[in-house]
This record gives sequence, C-alpha cells and structure tokens, in this order.
Amino acid sequence: MGIKLGILGLGTVGTGTVQLLQDNVGRHSLLQLVEIHRVGVKSLDKPRDVTLAKSVITTDLESIVNDPEVDIVVELIGGLEPARELILKAIQNGKHVVTANKAVISRFGAEIFTLANRQGVYVMLEAAVGGGIPVIQPLKQSLSVNRIHTVTGIVNGTTNYILTRMQTEGSSFDAVLADAQKLGYAEADPTADVDGWDAADKISILASLAFGGRINREEVSCEGIRQISKTDITYANNLGFVIKLLAIAKKVSPTDCTLSVRVHPTLVPKTHPLANINGVYNAILVEGEPLGQVMFFGPGAGAGATASAVSSDILNLVARLQTGQISAPLDPLLGCSHQDYCQIA
Ligand code: HSE
Repeated sequence: MGIKLGILGLGTVGTGTVQLLQDNVGRHSLLQLVEIHRVGVKSLDKPRDVTLAKSVITTDLESIVNDPEVDIVVELIGGLEPARELILKAIQNGKHVVTANKAVISRFGAEIFTLANRQGVYVMLEAAVGGGIPVIQPLKQSLSVNRIHTVTGIVNGTTNYILTRMQTEGSSFDAVLADAQKLGYAEADPTADVDGWDAADKISILASLAFGGRINREEVSCEGIRQISKTDITYANNLGFVIKLLAIAKKVSPTDCTLSVRVHPTLVPKTHPLANINGVYNAILVEGEPLGQVMFFGPGAGAGATASAVSSDILNLVARLQTGQISAPLDPLLGCSHQDYCQIA
C-alpha cells in the first residue's frame, strides 16, 4: 500500500524535504512506500530546485487537505493563517499531519490536539523545535518517566548566529542578520527571531511536553537581543561570560508545580554546557530526576536540518500506518498523564 503525501509549501524547508525524500528512496525501505502526491505552492512561476511533475503542483492548498487520496498532510507554509485552518481541515478529514509550525502549535495546540484525538490521527511536530535535533519524541517518550524540573535552551538559530558573530568577529547586528536571512535561518519577518517570540513559541511547546498541561505562550515573558551592544559583549567576555538568548522553563520550587517560563539574553559562564553552542546550532538542556542532565545539540535551522526532522516524522507515521498502530493517540500537549500538571506562576 502506498502512502500519499500532500505537502503544503515549497519554500526552504519544503524544497529541502522533497529533495531529501527523493534522494533517499533507494536506501530506505519505508521511503519506497511514500508517494509525493500533491504539493501546494504560492506561485507556479517561481523557479524551483526540485523535479516534480507539473500535475503534482497546485496553488489550491485547500484541495490538498480535501483530497481523499492524501494520507499525510505535511504543513510547511509557516505563519498562522492559512496554516492553522489547513491543519484543522486536514485533521477533520481524517489525515495525519506533520508540521514544522511552532507558531501555530504554541498558540492553537490545544484545539489541534483535541480534534486530532477525536479523529484518531497523529500530529507530529519534531521540526517545530530545535530544527534537526530530535527533542520532541525524546521528551514525549524516552524521558517521560523522569520528573523534569528545568528545560533550558538555545532554541533560535538566527539569534545565536548573530550573537556568535558579534562576539567572535565584532560584526554589526544588521550585517549578520542580513547573512542569516540569506542563509535561510531567519523567519521571513525576522522580528520573531530577534525579539525572542520564536524562542517563546518553542519553549512553550517544550514546557508543555516536559511539565504537562497547556503552557500558554502569551504568558511567556520575552525579551530579545536588539539591545545587546558590542560593549555588553566585551564586558561579559572580560568577566568570564558569554551572552546567549536563553529560553527557560523551570519549576519555581521542587515541591510546587508552578513554572517560570521566559526568554531573555543571559550571561552564561564560559564553563556552562550552553556557553559553547555557537552559530546556528541549538541546544536544549533538560534536567530532572533520576536522569540528571541530558543535553540535545545540533543544527537548529536551515533546509537540510529541518527537512531531516520533517522526514523523520513522515517515516515514523509511515511505519505506524504499516503496522496498523493508529489508535487515537493521547498527546502530551493535551496534558500529560505521566507528569505533573503545571502552570506558569
Ligand atoms: N528562524 C528559526 C531560527 C528557524 O532561527 O531558529 C528554525 O525554527
């Protein structure tokens, strides 16, 4: 039985995903079951770095989520609308969804997962946080028996790239931001990166997974890196620190389940494991009992890295569809059964 994908979006991540799926068909048995059935784009005229039959490509995104032949909708258009609406329609139509959309999941996760549970379909979001780093599945599964007390991350590649180059080369903020955009790291509107909102979306998702319950993204306190000057970086360096934009979710006290969830530039001692995460790399340090510390590290943005995470979700779903493991999933983003139910203080 072939599994048909409907891919929404053929930008940086969409193109990377199609290339990755096509390039690896010969060396992955599950990929041989996958057919790229429809691909939705904004414009048919734009030159593309992928080879797809003309009949596969359409500008009618809604026709993809309504197509009875599509099994998995892969949402890679980003932004809030029409992504949210298309995801909900796909679920309503009984399709599994893979998405890289942290903005939609962090704001509408509850609505999306409630509907997915009702429809008995999966919503996979490995690419929404940490680019290519596998961190969502480990938090949902491998670490789920632990009692987590802190999640600290560098979860925005653009700002880490900017801070690293300001630090190592003394480059100006604006010049490095322009490079990050050229390299495909920054969001179309880089305000979300630079002002910390992208990191706030991501830490609210990680906190929901680590601590259970629904962490309201609007309650995450957030400060970006616009105000960081060369002088700040030099002083920090002289005192033995680097400046990193950290996203932190932390239990306020060990006995209490209220949380502090925040994003802000932080003085990180040079000896700290997060101090040496440079460039577009992300890292997420999870601390809990009995495991202690575990750190996830890898490329946090870019076509190849994000396509790797999207493809892993697709393959995960294909494997489940093959073995018939598609009973209604209880997703931790709805409220974990194995963790405490936490709220922001
Ligand atoms: N703009 C994001 C970043 C892309 O720089 O991390 C990956 O989510």
